[in-house]
Amino acid sequence: MNIEKDFFFDKKQNNPLNRVDGRAKVTGTATYAAEHQVSNLVYGFLVGSTIAKGRIKSMDTKSAERADGVLAVITHLNAPKIPGYQTGKDPSKPPTAGQPLRIFYDNQIYYYDQPIALVIADTYERVLDAAKLVKAQYDKEAHQTDLEANLSKAKAPSGPRKEDYKRGELDAYKKAPVKIKQEYYHPVEVHNPMELGSIIAQWEGSEKVTVYTKTQGVESTRNSIKDAFKLKPENITVQAEHIGGAFGMGLRTWPYEIAAIMGAQKIGKPLKLVLHREQMFTNVGYRPETIQKISMGATADGKLIGITHEATANTSAYEEFTEATVNITQFMYACPNVATRYRIVPLNVCTPIWMRGPGEATGAFALESAMDELAHVLKIDPIEFRLRNHADVDPEHNRPWSSKHLKECYQMGAEKIGWKDRKLEPRTLKEGDWLIGYGMGTGSFGAMRWVATIKANLQSDGRLLLQCSVNDMGPGTATMMTAVASEAMGLTPDKITIQMGSTKLPPGPMQGGSNVTSTVGSAVHDVCAELKQQIAALASKEGSAFHKAKAVNVKPEDLIFSSDGVALKKKDSVKITYNELFRQNNLKTLELTKESKGQEQPYSMYSFSMHFVKLRVHPATGRIKIDHVVSCADAGTIISPKTAASQMIGGAVGGIGMALMEDLVVDHRFGRPINNNLADYHVPVNADIPNIDVLFVNKKDPFTNPMGSKGLGEIALVGVAPAIANAVFNATGKRIRTLPITPDKLM
Ligand code: MOS
Repeated sequence: MNIEKDFFFDKKQNNPLNRVDGRAKVTGTATYAAEHQVSNLVYGFLVGSTIAKGRIKSMDTKSAERADGVLAVITHLNAPKIPGYQTGKDPSKPPTAGQPLRIFYDNQIYYYDQPIALVIADTYERVLDAAKLVKAQYDKEAHQTDLEANLSKAKAPSGPRKEDYKRGELDAYKKAPVKIKQEYYHPVEVHNPMELGSIIAQWEGSEKVTVYTKTQGVESTRNSIKDAFKLKPENITVQAEHIGGAFGMGLRTWPYEIAAIMGAQKIGKPLKLVLHREQMFTNVGYRPETIQKISMGATADGKLIGITHEATANTSAYEEFTEATVNITQFMYACPNVATRYRIVPLNVCTPIWMRGPGEATGAFALESAMDELAHVLKIDPIEFRLRNHADVDPEHNRPWSSKHLKECYQMGAEKIGWKDRKLEPRTLKEGDWLIGYGMGTGSFGAMRWVATIKANLQSDGRLLLQCSVNDMGPGTATMMTAVASEAMGLTPDKITIQMGSTKLPPGPMQGGSNVTSTVGSAVHDVCAELKQQIAALASKEGSAFHKAKAVNVKPEDLIFSSDGVALKKKDSVKITYNELFRQNNLKTLELTKESKGQEQPYSMYSFSMHFVKLRVHPATGRIKIDHVVSCADAGTIISPKTAASQMIGGAVGGIGMALMEDLVVDHRFGRPINNNLADYHVPVNADIPNIDVLFVNKKDPFTNPMGSKGLGEIALVGVAPAIANAVFNATGKRIRTLPITPDKLM
């Protein structure tokens, strides 16, 4: 019996760890960026352009400057020179090719609500009041914000994703006896987490700055600030311990952050800038509008012959944003002939940014809808169709998976949702007036592991402190770290303290791409393994407890680690407390710092998910009511069952929003969004959310990392929207290829 393993297994199953920062979050003691107490604080507010393209001809800032409490109005006419802006280097480390927007750099306007002035005043009320007084005159030019109207400008990206993908024969679907060819549309979706974009910037002299900001990576924000302001990295402190949601909007440094740092420098006082909700719709990225064409052909008995998948998405007029929209088609099914293309269209809008399940979520809507369409033509059950085309090895890279348990997901999920009650023929199941439908959609995302350093400090009373700069936008990073350390060290979770979210701590990864459990969890695992080795060595050296008990060459696996000390497995009466051990060795604490990273593996590493939906549609009103969602994930070992399940539930809720509600509507006459608030931009509320069941295969991946985990932040969402669209088809016989599926489309 493996005592350590069983200790943790029992805890996990019967008494899963609660979110360790849960109490702080719900009682308001968790401090978010804008809540840090800083004395002599002044307030900034950004004024946005009222045109979507052109040049600022003149600006009137006089009355704003004269308003009560106003300390400065910064525009392109008087902005301090940002050293990084002059070199033409990227000052904000973008994920894109092109020139990031240089705030207040010149008079060019690229999009509606682009910041044209930063007003700074002594109180928040006064800065809002003064901001209304800033006026600008423009030389207006014709803007373009309509993707469909600009498709003729579609081009291959010049940076990432510039190459088309092909295996086998091009457009082989044409020769297939059974085929479909369809187009799918995905509107702009915005992240809009509860916490607004916020920053407090505080300079010490002209060489040192501290910022509290909403970011998913304090290190990368520090890099952006270093490049923009040409400071030494050690003179820049970035803090972001708690984040009120982000979904990807915190994956780059935005111009508003640079503006706040610039403003604080100019005024010589700490400055706070919080975006207004409206500005969250225009200035901090979004999931791009995307048109996808899929052609797919199969044999009469349902073996795929060819898939061609083309996506065209918008980017901004100054940068090329790209994402992995078509990539999922390259590896999901065992299809000999696959071709994908990715095109972008520059528009007068802010640059998009990754949003949960970036690319894959959009791509899976098209791919998994198309799979359902072809299954329908073939008169094959959609699960059966997928099983007939199951990719036993990665067909894109022609190598084995590190692990893949999608078949278990099909089986577990189908049973839970009651798939056997589904009818192959749409519009045949009814309950009273309501049409009942079942649908499914597959998700996948790369299982990545990056680099992290952890500093561990074990106290003589068994308390363990772990430090890493990684932060948490919500999924529960600290809880995961506590779970890993608790298992590794045999410590009860209350003995473990996590410090994170600051560049003052050892470097960790950004929180993005579902990497953190794999990256940081592994680093915690590794640092604990080394701690245990040191403890084993200390406890068995000459004169110590285990040496006296004649245990020789003691290794960590020969020991039982518990909350106050360590015992020999073979003679468990022989135990030494950490207190005694440290005293005997004249140690106050045991401290070590360790860097961990993954190794190149000859495997393709992906997480997989299956989402099942049962819903009802009212034929007279087109109203959709979701009865049940079952999300089933193959994410390797589940480290923290409760936060993992919450993550999956959140993804399903996001998918319901994507399928049924979310849609940023732009008035192309003015190039500006109409529904730029959370009353008109619809997201699901409690009444929209049914019972969501989360199932985990929970099988260790032998290759991803020592715990055998794979990420699940993205696969929680990828595949949900097509499951809903497919269920709507099964209920009504209507195939909706334009998201969101609003009642009018079903009438
Ligand atoms: Mo995620 S889009 O990697 O925050």
